[in-house]
Amino acid sequence: MPVDRRLFLHSSAAAVVALLAEGCALPSARGTPLGAPVGTSAAFPSFDAVAATLRDGVTLPPGYVAQVLYPWGSPTGIAGMPMPAFAPDASNSADDQALQAGMHHDGMHFFPLDADGTRALLVLNHEYTDEQLLHTQGVTPWTAEKVRKSLHAMGVSVIEIERTSDGWRQVLPSPYARRIHGRTPMRLAGPAAGTPRLRTSADPAGLRALGTFANCAMGVTPWGTYLTCEENFHGYFGGPTEHAAGATPAQRRYGTVPGAQWVDYWRFDERFDLSRHPNEANRFGWVVEIDPFDPMSTPVKRTALGRKRQESATCTTTRDGRLAVYMGDDAAFEYIYKFVSRQKIQPGADAAARAANRNLLDEGTLHVARFDADGRGAWLPLVHGKDGLHAAQGFADQADVLVHARMAADAVGATKMDRPEWIAVHPLTGEVYVTLTNNAQRGAPGKPAVDAANPRANNVFGGILRWREDAHDAGSTGFAWDHFVVAGDPAVPQSDTRYPGADADLFGAPDGLHFDAGGLLWIQTDLSGQTIGEGRTAALGNNQLLCANPQTGRIRRFLVGPSGCEITGCVVTPDRRTLFVNVQHPGEQRDDGSAPPNSAWPGDGARPRSATLAVRRRDGGQVGS
Ligand code: FEO
Ligand code: CA
Ligand code: CA
Repeated sequence: MPVDRRLFLHSSAAAVVALLAEGCALPSARGTPLGAPVGTSAAFPSFDAVAATLRDGVTLPPGYVAQVLYPWGSPTGIAGMPMPAFAPDASNSADDQALQAGMHHDGMHFFPLDADGTRALLVLNHEYTDEQLLHTQGVTPWTAEKVRKSLHAMGVSVIEIERTSDGWRQVLPSPYARRIHGRTPMRLAGPAAGTPRLRTSADPAGLRALGTFANCAMGVTPWGTYLTCEENFHGYFGGPTEHAAGATPAQRRYGTVPGAQWVDYWRFDERFDLSRHPNEANRFGWVVEIDPFDPMSTPVKRTALGRKRQESATCTTTRDGRLAVYMGDDAAFEYIYKFVSRQKIQPGADAAARAANRNLLDEGTLHVARFDADGRGAWLPLVHGKDGLHAAQGFADQADVLVHARMAADAVGATKMDRPEWIAVHPLTGEVYVTLTNNAQRGAPGKPAVDAANPRANNVFGGILRWREDAHDAGSTGFAWDHFVVAGDPAVPQSDTRYPGADADLFGAPDGLHFDAGGLLWIQTDLSGQTIGEGRTAALGNNQLLCANPQTGRIRRFLVGPSGCEITGCVVTPDRRTLFVNVQHPGEQRDDGSAPPNSAWPGDGARPRSATLAVRRRDGGQVGS
């Protein structure tokens, strides 16, 4: 028995009662391994898996059909505003782009507008920009207009959709439709709001920020708001290279160093110049709460959740009715976090509930995870005045702890992980799954060595780790963990893969992760364009979506995407009859945009376009079953 399977966990009568109340099979009260049989039919997934392929298109199992929705540049349909059509030569203006789908679709959620989910809001992130595709002549030269267009091409879209006899269609215009982007006014709230590190000349009070960008994964609160996560914000801040030597330790830790920028926004918009406005970058890297049902609402950056390269913000409820938010920080050797609110959640998911829980994310305790070699783990609180988080260590107050959460996590001895990305909570067992996408630096000279939770040196394939909170309570400070999958290709020498069963399709670089209501786990992959079809990952094909049954360990490849893309943002509707998923950056050969696209998907113009897919079964049945 591999070490991962030797876990024995505490249970409790109350948790068992809760599971029974939900109609689940009863796990044994003690000695229950993770992934215990609960709920999900052992027969699922039962579709015919698709083979790994480098085909430049969307490949699905027999009996399934996909339609393309809302590709980059599509009109958003904002009520009372123009609906500029997409210009295939990328000649749309910055103002047009603010009314159109952004680039690089990522995290996404489906919010029903009626009882049967025929009408809904689809809310999705736009993670980053490909400046070569975004502008007719790329960035030769950069201009202020191109900076504005680029900022408008990130952020969040809220669109209304409806299901018809022909499938899903976007409702144009819609009173809900909205674009939130890199220049949308928003509020800063929580313990770090207003503190000196968040004050700028444009906002001396440190309470109002301009925009959100680099929006990667997401979360949904029980009261029906959407949480968008600011991930690789650092790449947009820059400045004259001669100022690099003066960068502070915190700037180096977060990558906001003059000269290290990905794009030269700073030359045209001075707030991105770190040498002039160093605090502006402190206003990014947060979880931003958005009420998708109120297009007039102001998005709020929730500083109590800590600042990092924010990946997911996955919500669940503690035993006593408070909110727990699980978060990854997607960089090599970064951490997994959990926020637990001080107050209990007010029930409901309507406008009254959203009002009642308006400040819930502003008070609570941020923790960071330590994974011990014996399969146990601990949530270490990041609280000023405790555990080395004192002024002498550079943390003047709790605001400092939150703005520099990575450094606070260093100080308390958290476990450095192999790029923690998305986190998903099993709807029936409460067990928590996280993708550790890869980390080729693991074990390299001068870098952290392998450990129990990150067991592979030069980890190019990644995997999925999971834990169960003590007493089945998301408010616990202890947990038990194991690996669900150590992913990769067993045919590659020393790949040290471990799949949970013999009936498993191979994959690498797991990134997006979503549980449907039935307990099937949808795994989305993000091998970089440089590695797709090459070297050790050659046999894995293009990036893909797989469906796993944690109960049986069966993993089947469901969808393979076109050349160069990553697959992300999967969300299955509550009735499980439609699966929405995003095809991000089709054609991307190199993630710095330095090579021409190798795909024109979806094929309606010369430029490849990220887009949402709506996938259904031709017979109307539940997806994955
Ligand atoms: Fe945006 Fe960590 O992927
Ligand atoms: Ca990602
Ligand atoms: Ca990617």
